[in-house]
Amino acid sequence: MKKIRIAIDGPASSGKSTVAKQLAQKLQYVYLDTGAMYRCMTLSLLEHHVDLTDETLVSEWIKKQKIEFITHDNQQSVLLNGENVTLAIREARVSKHVSLISSYKHVREELVRQQRAYIQQGGIIMDGRDIGTVVMPEAELKIFMVASAYERAKRRYQEHVQRGDYTQSVEEIQRQIEKRDYIDSTRLESPLTKANDAIEIDTTELNINQVVEKIMSYL
Ligand code: DC
Repeated sequence: MKKIRIAIDGPASSGKSTVAKQLAQKLQYVYLDTGAMYRCMTLSLLEHHVDLTDETLVSEWIKKQKIEFITHDNQQSVLLNGENVTLAIREARVSKHVSLISSYKHVREELVRQQRAYIQQGGIIMDGRDIGTVVMPEAELKIFMVASAYERAKRRYQEHVQRGDYTQSVEEIQRQIEKRDYIDSTRLESPLTKANDAIEIDTTELNINQVVEKIMSYL
């Protein structure tokens, strides 16, 4: 089968990365989690106590950070300046601030430039918010995944529980998700929007396998 480029966009916790990872494994494609890149930058800023509201300082800082993805035993890890931050970038403090950092124009320009370097003729899956619209508008297949905020909060809650983290209720997580949705879709720089040629999949009532099968059928 000809290898193509696949763009998967959608709001927070709509299941994009789980689906993208499974598809990449099935198809032997390269997978790029662009949200992880915004998370790495946010983590680095927090660790070094950079003033997150100072857009100029933030933009200068992120240019000096190095993000790498490595794959080991079919598991992808992300390194920030050589340190494995795969788990740290999922912490609540990062989720809380990442939408602000990703709303900055120069932050987006820098990360989009880095993301484009991964684009190949085919055999790549990227997930994020602006992949089908800005990063890889030439993708042959574009998917826009949605799910109700309650369903997304429940999924995130389950992930927390699996890590032994009971600090937040489903309701609290839902409020945070709705806040991030709002910031991500109303920001000036490439807000979360569905590309005209994207196929929308509502995953509220679907499990991961069903979504993967649906996308496979579009291939
Ligand atoms: O997919 P995620 O939850 O890991 O993404 C974290 C944040 O990064 C999200 O709130 C919005 C931002 N993001 C973005 O603006 N553009 C992307 N391509 C990917 C993520």
